[in-house]
Amino acid sequence: MEHSRDILENISTAVIVLNKDLNVTRINSAGQALLEVSLTRTTGTHVSQLVLSPSQWLQSLEQVRQSNAPLTLRGLQLTLLGGHEIHVDLTINPVLDKDGELNLLVELQAIDRLLRISREEGMAHAQETTKAVIRSLAHEIKNPLAGVRGAAQLLSRELPNEGLTEYTEVIIREADRLRDLVDRLLGSQQQLALQDLNIHEVLEHLRMLLQAETENRITIIRDYDPSLPSFPMDRAQLIQAVLNIMRNALQASTQIEDCVLTLRTRSQRQFTIGTKRHRLVCRIDISDNGPGIPEELMHAVFIPMVTGRAEGTGLGLSISQSIINRHGGLLECDSRPGNTTFTIYLPMETQHAK
Ligand SMILES: Nc1ncnc2c1ncn2[C@@H]1O[C@H](COP(=O)(O)OP(=O)(O)O)[C@@H](O)[C@H]1O
Ligand SMILES: [Mg+2]
Repeated sequence: MEHSRDILENISTAVIVLNKDLNVTRINSAGQALLEVSLTRTTGTHVSQLVLSPSQWLQSLEQVRQSNAPLTLRGLQLTLLGGHEIHVDLTINPVLDKDGELNLLVELQAIDRLLRISREEGMAHAQETTKAVIRSLAHEIKNPLAGVRGAAQLLSRELPNEGLTEYTEVIIREADRLRDLVDRLLGSQQQLALQDLNIHEVLEHLRMLLQAETENRITIIRDYDPSLPSFPMDRAQLIQAVLNIMRNALQASTQIEDCVLTLRTRSQRQFTIGTKRHRLVCRIDISDNGPGIPEELMHAVFIPMVTGRAEGTGLGLSISQSIINRHGGLLECDSRPGNTTFTIYLPMETQHAK
Protein backbone atom coordinates (compact mmCIF):
# COMPACT_ATOMS: atom_id res chain seq x y z
CA MET A 1 0.00 0.00 0.00
CA GLU A 2 2.82 2.44 0.94
CA HIS A 3 4.46 1.50 -2.32
CA SER A 4 1.39 2.31 -4.41
CA ARG A 5 0.96 5.53 -2.46
CA ASP A 6 4.48 6.50 -3.44
CA ILE A 7 3.89 5.75 -7.10
CA LEU A 8 0.69 7.76 -7.13
CA GLU A 9 2.47 10.69 -5.52
CA ASN A 10 5.20 10.74 -8.10
CA ILE A 11 3.28 10.47 -11.33
CA SER A 12 2.34 13.62 -13.19
CA THR A 13 -1.21 12.46 -13.95
CA ALA A 14 -3.77 13.80 -11.54
CA VAL A 15 -5.44 10.88 -9.77
CA ILE A 16 -8.44 10.94 -7.47
CA VAL A 17 -9.87 7.88 -5.73
CA LEU A 18 -13.52 8.01 -4.69
CA ASN A 19 -15.42 5.58 -2.50
CA LYS A 20 -18.85 4.24 -3.40
CA ASP A 21 -20.52 7.39 -2.04
CA LEU A 22 -18.29 9.50 -4.28
CA ASN A 23 -16.33 10.87 -1.35
CA VAL A 24 -12.64 11.54 -1.90
CA THR A 25 -10.39 8.95 -0.27
CA ARG A 26 -7.19 9.80 -2.13
CA ILE A 27 -5.97 12.70 -4.23
CA ASN A 28 -2.35 12.76 -5.32
CA SER A 29 -0.13 15.84 -5.54
CA ALA A 30 -0.71 16.27 -9.25
CA GLY A 31 -4.45 16.16 -8.55
CA GLN A 32 -4.21 18.76 -5.81
CA ALA A 33 -2.12 20.99 -8.06
CA LEU A 34 -4.46 20.63 -11.03
CA LEU A 35 -7.63 21.34 -9.07
CA GLU A 36 -5.85 23.84 -6.81
CA VAL A 37 -7.07 22.17 -3.65
CA SER A 38 -5.26 20.92 -0.59
CA LEU A 39 -5.21 17.41 0.74
CA THR A 40 -6.53 18.31 4.17
CA ARG A 41 -9.50 20.22 2.78
CA THR A 42 -10.54 17.56 0.32
CA THR A 43 -10.10 14.19 2.01
CA GLY A 44 -13.51 12.83 2.85
CA THR A 45 -15.47 15.50 1.03
CA HIS A 46 -17.92 14.72 -1.75
CA VAL A 47 -16.51 14.94 -5.26
CA SER A 48 -18.98 17.72 -6.09
CA GLN A 49 -17.13 19.96 -3.61
CA LEU A 50 -13.93 19.85 -5.66
CA VAL A 51 -15.05 22.18 -8.43
CA LEU A 52 -17.78 24.74 -9.05
CA SER A 53 -19.20 22.98 -12.09
CA PRO A 54 -19.47 19.30 -11.20
CA SER A 55 -22.67 18.30 -13.02
CA GLN A 56 -21.24 16.67 -16.15
CA TRP A 57 -18.53 15.01 -14.12
CA LEU A 58 -21.10 13.71 -11.62
CA GLN A 59 -23.23 12.28 -14.40
CA SER A 60 -20.29 10.32 -15.77
CA LEU A 61 -19.31 9.05 -12.33
CA GLU A 62 -22.88 7.91 -11.78
CA GLN A 63 -22.83 6.15 -15.13
CA VAL A 64 -19.64 4.23 -14.28
CA ARG A 65 -20.99 3.36 -10.87
CA GLN A 66 -24.03 1.80 -12.46
CA SER A 67 -22.52 0.20 -15.55
CA ASN A 68 -19.27 -0.83 -13.86
CA ALA A 69 -17.50 -0.03 -17.14
CA PRO A 70 -14.66 2.47 -17.61
CA LEU A 71 -15.43 5.76 -19.30
CA THR A 72 -13.35 8.51 -20.92
CA LEU A 73 -14.51 12.08 -21.38
CA ARG A 74 -12.53 14.45 -23.57
CA GLY A 75 -12.26 18.20 -23.21
CA LEU A 76 -14.39 18.45 -20.10
CA GLN A 77 -14.54 21.99 -18.79
CA LEU A 78 -14.19 22.40 -15.04
CA THR A 79 -14.53 25.62 -13.06
CA LEU A 80 -12.14 25.53 -10.13
CA LEU A 81 -13.11 26.78 -6.68
CA GLY A 82 -10.88 29.80 -7.25
CA GLY A 83 -13.06 30.70 -10.25
CA HIS A 84 -10.94 29.93 -13.25
CA GLU A 85 -11.58 27.30 -15.84
CA ILE A 86 -9.51 24.37 -16.97
CA HIS A 87 -10.04 21.77 -19.65
CA VAL A 88 -9.26 18.15 -18.95
CA ASP A 89 -9.45 14.71 -20.45
CA LEU A 90 -10.91 12.48 -17.82
CA THR A 91 -10.94 8.71 -17.39
CA ILE A 92 -13.02 6.94 -14.78
CA ASN A 93 -12.21 3.34 -13.84
CA PRO A 94 -14.24 1.20 -11.46
CA VAL A 95 -11.96 -0.72 -9.10
CA LEU A 96 -12.61 -2.90 -6.07
CA ASP A 97 -10.84 -2.05 -2.82
CA LYS A 98 -9.48 -4.70 -0.45
CA ASP A 99 -12.88 -5.03 1.24
CA GLY A 100 -14.55 -5.69 -2.10
CA GLU A 101 -16.21 -2.27 -2.14
CA LEU A 102 -16.54 -0.41 -5.43
CA ASN A 103 -14.14 2.52 -5.74
CA LEU A 104 -13.79 4.90 -8.65
CA LEU A 105 -10.36 5.81 -9.89
CA VAL A 106 -10.42 9.12 -11.74
CA GLU A 107 -7.51 10.24 -13.89
CA LEU A 108 -7.39 13.81 -15.16
CA GLN A 109 -5.09 15.16 -17.87
CA ALA A 110 -5.04 18.91 -18.19
CA ILE A 111 -5.11 19.87 -21.81
CA ASP A 112 -4.73 23.54 -20.88
CA ARG A 113 -1.46 22.87 -19.20
CA LEU A 114 0.03 21.28 -22.30
CA LEU A 115 -1.22 24.05 -24.55
CA ARG A 116 0.09 26.63 -22.18
CA ILE A 117 3.57 25.22 -21.99
CA SER A 118 3.98 24.97 -25.72
CA ARG A 119 2.68 28.49 -26.16
CA GLU A 120 5.03 29.66 -23.45
CA GLU A 121 7.98 28.15 -25.22
CA GLY A 122 7.08 30.01 -28.39
CA MET A 123 6.66 33.20 -26.42
CA ALA A 124 9.83 32.69 -24.46
CA HIS A 125 11.65 32.33 -27.75
CA ALA A 126 10.26 35.53 -29.20
CA GLN A 127 11.09 37.35 -25.98
CA GLU A 128 14.63 36.06 -25.99
CA THR A 129 15.10 37.52 -29.48
CA THR A 130 13.67 40.87 -28.45
CA LYS A 131 15.89 40.91 -25.40
CA ALA A 132 18.98 40.06 -27.42
CA VAL A 133 18.28 42.97 -29.78
CA ILE A 134 17.77 45.33 -26.87
CA ARG A 135 20.96 44.17 -25.19
CA SER A 136 23.12 44.71 -28.24
CA LEU A 137 21.53 48.13 -28.78
CA ALA A 138 22.23 49.02 -25.17
CA HIS A 139 25.86 48.03 -25.56
CA GLU A 140 26.16 50.11 -28.71
CA ILE A 141 24.81 53.14 -26.88
CA LYS A 142 27.16 52.85 -23.91
CA ASN A 143 30.48 53.58 -25.60
CA PRO A 144 29.60 56.72 -27.56
CA LEU A 145 27.69 57.92 -24.52
CA ALA A 146 30.80 57.73 -22.37
CA GLY A 147 32.60 59.71 -25.09
CA VAL A 148 29.95 62.43 -25.11
CA ARG A 149 30.07 62.71 -21.33
CA GLY A 150 33.87 62.89 -21.21
CA ALA A 151 34.00 65.54 -23.92
CA ALA A 152 31.39 67.65 -22.14
CA GLN A 153 33.46 67.48 -18.96
CA LEU A 154 36.61 68.63 -20.76
CA LEU A 155 34.68 71.36 -22.50
CA SER A 156 33.29 72.69 -19.23
CA ARG A 157 36.84 73.27 -17.96
CA GLU A 158 37.82 75.20 -21.07
CA LEU A 159 34.80 77.44 -21.22
CA PRO A 160 35.67 81.15 -20.96
CA ASN A 161 32.40 82.05 -19.37
CA GLU A 162 31.11 80.44 -16.14
CA GLY A 163 27.51 80.90 -17.28
CA LEU A 164 28.05 78.53 -20.16
CA THR A 165 28.78 75.53 -17.92
CA GLU A 166 25.05 75.32 -17.38
CA TYR A 167 24.87 73.77 -20.85
CA THR A 168 27.64 71.25 -20.31
CA GLU A 169 25.97 70.28 -17.04
CA VAL A 170 22.80 69.47 -18.93
CA ILE A 171 24.78 67.25 -21.31
CA ILE A 172 26.47 65.44 -18.42
CA ARG A 173 23.26 64.99 -16.44
CA GLU A 174 21.32 63.66 -19.40
CA ALA A 175 24.18 61.36 -20.37
CA ASP A 176 24.12 59.95 -16.83
CA ARG A 177 20.39 59.44 -17.02
CA LEU A 178 20.75 57.57 -20.29
CA ARG A 179 23.57 55.46 -18.86
CA ASP A 180 21.39 54.46 -15.90
CA LEU A 181 18.60 53.48 -18.24
CA VAL A 182 20.95 51.44 -20.40
CA ASP A 183 22.39 49.73 -17.31
CA ARG A 184 18.92 48.77 -16.16
CA LEU A 185 18.11 47.54 -19.66
CA LEU A 186 21.16 45.33 -19.60
CA GLY A 187 20.02 43.96 -16.27
CA SER A 188 22.09 42.63 -13.46
CA GLN A 189 24.85 40.35 -14.59
CA GLN A 190 25.76 39.73 -11.01
CA GLN A 191 26.33 36.08 -10.12
CA LEU A 192 23.63 34.65 -7.95
CA ALA A 193 24.67 34.50 -4.31
CA LEU A 194 22.73 31.40 -3.36
CA GLN A 195 21.90 30.44 0.19
CA ASP A 196 19.36 28.03 1.63
CA LEU A 197 16.43 30.12 2.76
CA ASN A 198 12.84 29.81 3.73
CA ILE A 199 10.66 31.48 1.11
CA HIS A 200 8.18 32.60 3.76
CA GLU A 201 10.83 34.63 5.54
CA VAL A 202 11.41 36.47 2.25
CA LEU A 203 7.68 36.97 1.64
CA GLU A 204 7.08 38.17 5.19
CA HIS A 205 9.86 40.71 4.78
CA LEU A 206 8.19 42.00 1.62
CA ARG A 207 4.76 42.01 3.23
CA MET A 208 6.02 44.17 6.08
CA LEU A 209 7.71 46.48 3.62
CA LEU A 210 4.51 46.96 1.63
CA GLN A 211 2.36 47.40 4.72
CA ALA A 212 4.71 50.14 5.90
CA GLU A 213 4.87 51.78 2.47
CA THR A 214 1.11 51.90 2.13
CA GLU A 215 0.53 52.70 5.79
CA ASN A 216 -1.59 49.57 6.17
CA ARG A 217 -4.16 50.77 3.66
CA ILE A 218 -4.14 47.49 1.79
CA THR A 219 -5.10 44.01 2.91
CA ILE A 220 -2.50 41.34 2.39
CA ILE A 221 -3.82 37.79 2.68
CA ARG A 222 -1.30 35.07 3.37
CA ASP A 223 -1.93 31.53 2.29
CA TYR A 224 1.34 29.78 2.94
CA ASP A 225 2.16 26.10 2.77
CA PRO A 226 4.22 25.75 5.94
CA SER A 227 5.67 22.42 4.85
CA LEU A 228 7.81 24.03 2.14
CA PRO A 229 11.47 23.27 2.80
CA SER A 230 14.31 25.77 2.54
CA PHE A 231 15.97 25.92 -0.85
CA PRO A 232 18.78 27.89 -2.47
CA MET A 233 18.02 31.41 -3.64
CA ASP A 234 19.67 34.78 -3.94
CA ARG A 235 17.76 36.68 -1.29
CA ALA A 236 18.41 40.23 -2.50
CA GLN A 237 17.66 39.46 -6.13
CA LEU A 238 14.57 37.42 -5.38
CA ILE A 239 13.26 40.23 -3.19
CA GLN A 240 13.75 42.57 -6.14
CA ALA A 241 11.90 40.19 -8.45
CA VAL A 242 8.89 39.78 -6.17
CA LEU A 243 8.82 43.44 -5.17
CA ASN A 244 8.52 44.52 -8.82
CA ILE A 245 5.47 42.27 -9.17
CA MET A 246 3.93 43.49 -5.91
CA ARG A 247 4.50 47.16 -6.75
CA ASN A 248 2.73 46.67 -10.08
CA ALA A 249 -0.18 45.04 -8.29
CA LEU A 250 -0.43 48.01 -5.94
CA GLN A 251 -0.10 50.58 -8.70
CA ALA A 252 -2.85 48.86 -10.68
CA SER A 253 -5.13 48.59 -7.68
CA THR A 254 -4.87 52.10 -6.26
CA GLN A 255 -8.09 53.15 -7.91
CA ILE A 256 -10.11 50.47 -6.15
CA GLU A 257 -11.21 50.90 -2.61
CA ASP A 258 -10.48 47.58 -0.94
CA CYS A 259 -7.19 46.62 -2.43
CA VAL A 260 -6.42 43.02 -1.56
CA LEU A 261 -3.12 41.36 -2.31
CA THR A 262 -2.88 37.60 -1.85
CA LEU A 263 0.39 35.76 -1.33
CA ARG A 264 0.12 32.05 -1.79
CA THR A 265 2.77 29.33 -1.67
CA ARG A 266 2.46 25.70 -2.65
CA SER A 267 4.77 22.85 -3.43
CA GLN A 268 4.27 21.15 -6.73
CA ARG A 269 5.61 17.79 -7.77
CA GLN A 270 6.75 16.71 -11.20
CA PHE A 271 6.71 20.09 -12.87
CA THR A 272 8.34 20.92 -16.19
CA ILE A 273 10.11 24.23 -16.71
CA GLY A 274 11.32 24.71 -20.26
CA THR A 275 12.48 21.23 -21.11
CA LYS A 276 13.59 20.25 -17.63
CA ARG A 277 11.40 18.14 -15.42
CA HIS A 278 11.65 18.88 -11.71
CA ARG A 279 10.71 16.55 -8.92
CA LEU A 280 9.65 19.36 -6.64
CA VAL A 281 9.09 23.05 -7.29
CA CYS A 282 7.94 25.92 -5.12
CA ARG A 283 5.03 27.88 -6.54
CA ILE A 284 4.38 31.43 -5.40
CA ASP A 285 1.20 33.22 -6.49
CA ILE A 286 0.90 36.98 -6.13
CA SER A 287 -2.66 38.04 -6.85
CA ASP A 288 -4.43 41.37 -6.80
CA ASN A 289 -8.05 42.37 -7.28
CA GLY A 290 -7.29 45.34 -9.52
CA PRO A 291 -8.58 45.99 -13.04
CA GLY A 292 -6.22 43.51 -14.74
CA ILE A 293 -3.64 43.88 -17.45
CA PRO A 294 -5.00 45.58 -20.56
CA GLU A 295 -5.70 42.97 -23.24
CA GLU A 296 -3.36 44.54 -25.79
CA LEU A 297 -0.44 44.49 -23.31
CA MET A 298 -0.97 40.95 -22.12
CA HIS A 299 1.39 39.22 -24.56
CA ALA A 300 4.12 41.82 -24.09
CA VAL A 301 4.35 42.64 -20.39
CA PHE A 302 7.60 40.75 -19.91
CA ILE A 303 9.34 42.62 -22.72
CA PRO A 304 11.56 45.48 -21.55
CA MET A 305 10.19 49.02 -22.03
CA VAL A 306 6.62 47.83 -22.51
CA THR A 307 4.53 49.81 -20.07
CA GLY A 308 0.90 50.71 -19.58
CA ARG A 309 1.66 53.57 -17.21
CA ALA A 310 2.58 57.16 -18.13
CA GLU A 311 5.39 57.22 -15.59
CA GLY A 312 6.40 53.57 -16.08
CA THR A 313 9.72 52.35 -17.45
CA GLY A 314 8.48 48.92 -18.50
CA LEU A 315 11.52 47.31 -16.92
CA GLY A 316 10.02 45.84 -13.74
CA LEU A 317 8.63 42.59 -15.09
CA SER A 318 11.46 41.98 -17.49
CA ILE A 319 13.91 42.25 -14.58
CA SER A 320 11.75 39.95 -12.44
CA GLN A 321 11.57 37.43 -15.23
CA SER A 322 15.29 37.41 -15.81
CA ILE A 323 16.04 36.97 -12.09
CA ILE A 324 13.58 34.09 -11.88
CA ASN A 325 14.97 32.50 -15.03
CA ARG A 326 18.46 32.69 -13.59
CA HIS A 327 17.16 30.74 -10.61
CA GLY A 328 16.07 28.08 -13.09
CA GLY A 329 12.46 29.14 -12.58
CA LEU A 330 9.49 30.38 -14.58
CA LEU A 331 7.26 33.45 -14.32
CA GLU A 332 3.70 33.24 -15.61
CA CYS A 333 0.81 35.57 -15.60
CA ASP A 334 -2.94 35.18 -15.75
CA SER A 335 -5.09 38.28 -15.70
CA ARG A 336 -8.68 39.32 -15.89
CA PRO A 337 -10.56 42.21 -14.31
CA GLY A 338 -10.67 41.66 -10.57
CA ASN A 339 -8.00 38.99 -10.51
CA THR A 340 -4.47 39.22 -11.76
CA THR A 341 -2.08 36.51 -10.69
CA PHE A 342 1.63 36.34 -11.29
CA THR A 343 2.96 32.87 -10.59
CA ILE A 344 6.61 32.15 -9.87
CA TYR A 345 7.87 28.59 -10.09
CA LEU A 346 11.24 27.90 -8.49
CA PRO A 347 12.97 24.53 -8.51
CA MET A 348 13.72 23.35 -4.99
CA GLU A 349 16.57 21.01 -5.87
CA THR A 350 19.92 22.10 -4.56
CA GLN A 351 21.66 22.29 -7.93
CA HIS A 352 21.20 25.15 -10.34
CA ALA A 353 22.25 25.39 -13.94
CA LYS A 354 23.72 28.87 -13.38
N1 LIG B 1 -0.94 43.45 -11.43
C1 LIG B 1 -1.13 44.17 -12.54
N2 LIG B 1 -2.36 44.65 -12.86
C2 LIG B 1 -2.53 45.37 -14.00
N3 LIG B 1 -1.57 45.68 -14.89
C3 LIG B 1 -0.33 45.24 -14.62
C4 LIG B 1 -0.03 44.45 -13.44
N4 LIG B 1 1.28 44.13 -13.48
C5 LIG B 1 1.78 44.71 -14.59
N5 LIG B 1 0.83 45.36 -15.29
C6 LIG B 1 1.00 46.08 -16.57
O1 LIG B 1 2.26 45.70 -17.11
C7 LIG B 1 3.04 46.86 -17.41
C8 LIG B 1 4.51 46.54 -17.32
O2 LIG B 1 4.94 46.39 -15.98
P1 LIG B 1 6.47 46.62 -15.61
O3 LIG B 1 7.31 45.78 -16.49
O4 LIG B 1 6.64 46.46 -14.15
O5 LIG B 1 6.74 48.12 -16.03
P2 LIG B 1 6.17 49.48 -15.38
O6 LIG B 1 5.63 49.15 -14.04
O7 LIG B 1 7.36 50.38 -15.32
O8 LIG B 1 5.14 49.96 -16.34
C9 LIG B 1 2.53 47.90 -16.43
O9 LIG B 1 2.75 49.22 -16.91
C10 LIG B 1 1.05 47.58 -16.37
O10 LIG B 1 0.36 48.18 -17.45
MG1 LIG C 1 6.56 47.99 -12.61
